[in-house]
Amino acid sequence: MKTITVIGSGVIGASWATNFAFRECEVRLYDTAEDALANGKNAVLRNLNNFVQYGVIRQDDVAPIAARITYTTDIAQALEGAYLVQEAGPDQYPIKQAILAQVDEYAPDALFLSSTSGLSITEIAKHSAHPDRCMGGHPFNPPHLIPLVEISKGEKTSQEAVDKAVAFFESINKVPVVCKKEKLGFIANRIQWALYREAIDLVITGTCTIEDVDKAVTYGPGLRWAILGPNMIYELGGGKDGIRGMNKLSGTTAKGYADLCTWGAKPDDWFDNAQAGVDEEKAKLPDFIGHTNEEIAKFRDSMLIELLRLHHKL
Ligand SMILES: NC(=O)c1ccc[n+]([C@@H]2O[C@H](COP(=O)([O-])OP(=O)(O)OC[C@H]3O[C@@H](n4cnc5c(N)ncnc54)[C@H](O)[C@@H]3O)[C@@H](O)[C@H]2O)c1
Repeated sequence: MKTITVIGSGVIGASWATNFAFRECEVRLYDTAEDALANGKNAVLRNLNNFVQYGVIRQDDVAPIAARITYTTDIAQALEGAYLVQEAGPDQYPIKQAILAQVDEYAPDALFLSSTSGLSITEIAKHSAHPDRCMGGHPFNPPHLIPLVEISKGEKTSQEAVDKAVAFFESINKVPVVCKKEKLGFIANRIQWALYREAIDLVITGTCTIEDVDKAVTYGPGLRWAILGPNMIYELGGGKDGIRGMNKLSGTTAKGYADLCTWGAKPDDWFDNAQAGVDEEKAKLPDFIGHTNEEIAKFRDSMLIELLRLHHKL
């Protein structure tokens, strides 16, 4: 049973703590203020109760899992004996650097992973005496459900530390991927951004509606991507020659790549204008999905749990 320290008990920290406790780690959840910790504790209990509701755990399991988490505003206590520190504080350099200075003092040998969505690991670790064990550990929200962890290297991150982090996450049934270079958005967000830019462009150029973008993704490639990644899908699509067989479509795809939009800034009013289209789409959803955001979120969560079960991730 490894001791994992989670720093910051907000949206991401509380979800990480749930995940580590569920996977039988001893967890220390640290925040600077008691009220923030209390919010974190409520979020953990909510997450565990949702697990009960979806049949992931039994009601009797809640207390022992919850008991694996110690809540503290004492950084020395939080870091004592930590194997891995998962930092989930505010996304600002001075705060993350100050947190790392405390980790240097109280847990100099622990692996340090920042949950940052967009800050540079090299910059976060630039004053650290132990930058070799510092790396990004970017979750997808909520980390207690989504298996992906993007591990990213800073300039001084050692391969040994990355290997240990990968082995740890694999041991708790997460799916780590390694971003070998500092890259804004890591891997998954860049793929999402590329797809969403084209989706925006299709709507603003009058090619299709907001609703049709969602239908096209959900009932087309999205269904396949929830099972296998785009390369593996092409491997199967290429026939007996595997992904090489996709060369049969090179003419069309070459023209397609050349035709994709390339703009670097979305229209400022995109989300404001998109709201009407989304509202219309919500009204037309089938009743089993629902029409309010609460109903739709519940549908998403129940489908996600089923998919995770099929992937042997829950
Ligand atoms: N929210 C997301 O969808 C998401 C997704 C992936 C990654 N992230 C990253 O996760 C990190 C946390 O984001 P969040 O959405 O949970 O933020 P949040 O604002 O919900 O939580 C931040 C927590 O940090 C605490 N805090 C403030 N100063 C601190 C300090 N000096 N030491 C320790 N804790 C401190 C706050 O009290 C708060 O509880 C960020 O780096 C963010 O980029 C967020």
